[in-house]
Amino acid sequence: MDVVFRRGNPAQRPAGALVVGILKGERKPTGAAAAVDRASGGALSVLLARPDFTGAHAEVAVLYPRSLKAKRLLVVGLGPRAELSSHRVRLAAAAAARKARELRAATVVTLALGAGRLDPAAAAQATAEGVVLGPWRFTAYRTKAAAPALRRVEVVEPDAGKAEPMAAAVERGARWAEGTLLARDLAWTPGADLTPQRLAERAKDVARGCGARLEVLDVPAMERLGMNGILGVGRGSANPPCFVVLERGPRGRRGPELPTVVVVGKGVTFDTGGISLKPRENLHEMKYDMSGAAAVLGLFASLPSVTLPLRVVGLIPAAENMPGGRALKPGDVLRAMNGTTIEITNTDAEGRLLLADALAYARRYEGATVVDLATLTGAIGLALGHVAAGLFTADDRLAAELLAAGEASGERLWRMPLWEDYERELESDTADVVNAGAREGGACSAARFLERFTGSMRWAHLDIANTAWAPVERPHERRGPTGYGVRLLLEWLTRRTANA
Ligand code: BES
Ligand code: MN
Ligand code: ZN
Repeated sequence: MDVVFRRGNPAQRPAGALVVGILKGERKPTGAAAAVDRASGGALSVLLARPDFTGAHAEVAVLYPRSLKAKRLLVVGLGPRAELSSHRVRLAAAAAARKARELRAATVVTLALGAGRLDPAAAAQATAEGVVLGPWRFTAYRTKAAAPALRRVEVVEPDAGKAEPMAAAVERGARWAEGTLLARDLAWTPGADLTPQRLAERAKDVARGCGARLEVLDVPAMERLGMNGILGVGRGSANPPCFVVLERGPRGRRGPELPTVVVVGKGVTFDTGGISLKPRENLHEMKYDMSGAAAVLGLFASLPSVTLPLRVVGLIPAAENMPGGRALKPGDVLRAMNGTTIEITNTDAEGRLLLADALAYARRYEGATVVDLATLTGAIGLALGHVAAGLFTADDRLAAELLAAGEASGERLWRMPLWEDYERELESDTADVVNAGAREGGACSAARFLERFTGSMRWAHLDIANTAWAPVERPHERRGPTGYGVRLLLEWLTRRTANA
């Protein structure tokens, strides 16, 4: 889909659908919507005078004014004025674009929704993100054609004074949303078609596309480094594990003098639980256990859309957790890359074994800030539902940065404790530590486990097991993999650079 910015009068643009946003309770259109109302012979005013449409958030009405160049007018509710936010704009734009596609419109012209109230660039970016995210479906395995995709969206702004920042914001929003869609595609792909090897190949495509350096460590290379956590998890599968390293600096600038951010993504391409086999209910969903890795790849794919004076490193430990003849057994002890010995008490707590080695590997980037994303525990969903991922860090500043980026991107975080008390869960009779504690507080003891491998790095862990999969439909995401984390990371990195 092409998403472009255009300065001009939206009412004069031909399109399958023209979109305007209306606040809840608004009885008279204002600003650019007023111009559309005039061009439509007052059709919008008539709608607002009726009880048919209230302006409730993401409500959509369809009008057919003859005097417009567009074939239909979609009026989307922005909700109450006091609650307007970029995320609400993103959802409203998504709802409108989805409706346009259902009506088989091929092209959409839209105002930057909420631009009269919010920062115009933020409104433009959120609108662009919404129109890309909303109509998306995963169709790779369907043989029957659904409604055709939207081909083109124009975000139109009449005021020349605002055009420049808005044009850049539309471009950025489209690229960020495309990164999210890449992550969704990857997480949606069945385990059989996205093995660790295949994931590494996709990483290669992404690296080529964004100008990143890529290295893939195979089994012998990981053996040389002592990455027995990753190797142990991978041993039960016929598809060998691997470790992917991506590295990208700003164009023309290289070297260790640049501040470095390392993003680590759990890449379990399928999680059966291993010998500690999972129950059969909804097991097919465990193809999304590489959503952390997908977020890293989505981020890299979108990096060309932002200018960052940073070196960004992506680390993806990839493995399939299967109960094969050589699989890890409960009671086995393995030695992670940093020398820590781990007694396996549950082979289903495999993500932390991968991350242990990946975090130990990250220590070679001295002075770096490290953020890992992992579908790590079912417990995080018990704690937070599906509305915010769990944020674990000892660093208050990093926490504040990430929380703010979560609010702005709509990919919310909630801070969870990393108290030393959880260590009790990890005591082993045999080795330095066990890999699985009690169910109660399971997300917290898992985070505490990871902390052992981070040394003195500035580090945050995001448990995204609950947010990487949507159990219910929302305007900008279907049921299933969400691509969570891509826009959060982009927002975090951009703000961090802007404030530096
Ligand atoms: N991939 C799962 C976590 C998960 C659960 C993700 C539900 C998405 C939905 C992870 O590998 C796992 O199995 N964790 C265990 C840990 C336990 C054995 C300590 C869990 O959460 O049950
Ligand atoms: Mn597991
Ligand atoms: Zn897992």
